Amino acid sequence: MLATLKEILPEAYRKRRAVGAFNVANYEAALGVIRAAEREKLPAIIQIFQRLFLSEKGSDLAGTLLRMAHRCSQPIVVHLDHGGSAEIVRAALAAGCSSVMFDGSMLEFEKNAELTKYAADCAHALGASCEGEIGHVAMGDENAITTVEDAVRFHSATGVDALAVSIGTVHGFYKSKPKIDAARCAEIAAALPSVPLVLHGGTGTPPEDLRAVIENGVSKVNIATEFMDTFLKSTRRELEALGDNFLPIDKFMDPVVDDCAAHAARLMRFFAGK
Ligand code: 13P
Repeated sequence: MLATLKEILPEAYRKRRAVGAFNVANYEAALGVIRAAEREKLPAIIQIFQRLFLSEKGSDLAGTLLRMAHRCSQPIVVHLDHGGSAEIVRAALAAGCSSVMFDGSMLEFEKNAELTKYAADCAHALGASCEGEIGHVAMGDENAITTVEDAVRFHSATGVDALAVSIGTVHGFYKSKPKIDAARCAEIAAALPSVPLVLHGGTGTPPEDLRAVIENGVSKVNIATEFMDTFLKSTRRELEALGDNFLPIDKFMDPVVDDCAAHAARLMRFFAGK
């Protein structure tokens, strides 16, 4: 069933669990997440990166994901990841996404708060949910760690349903072992006791660090790079095995869907403390 962050994260937060949020750009990877949710009887978040909404890809994919979410017996959130402008947020909501993120984490505090509040108001008017980010989770190694004061001010200025914080993770594969600030996470959660926190840059984060932040308020963990890597490696393996033979494309992709489902299920179980 289609769900919003508001419907699934508060319960996860209370139980000190997290829901996996997987970035997808095609049907087969999304099918892997849906099958994992069915198999594990757990909710999931499927995310579309904002760039896809610069062409027809975003709304075409959202339409497919919505249909898959409605068919699934578990709550599935169809979410815009890293929305970078009001236009993108409106495009994702118009395409039926049940949730959006506005990412103004590179902007000045006031501008970030103003644009995020606009995104949250648009989402809430349509019954959708909204995530914002304060502090900045970088692509490389330079992070701006979120302060407790900024997190509290930002949440009260925007009314977001979930708050992405920067506590030491980075996007993509790590070049060296990350230093995750679980203590900062706990302080933010203590100051905002009813606000589910979001961890970006989940790929490669050591399990003990993931466990520590989930126990301290993180209830949505974003996974992109390692999930796409599974999709690509699995596709390459199947192509190589195929050689010059012909196999219908749906059969060719079946093992890739299985690998994506296994990857998503493993993480979903871990995030749920199973
Ligand atoms: P990774 O690519 O590091 O998993 O980060 C994903 C993410 O945060 C998407 O918003």
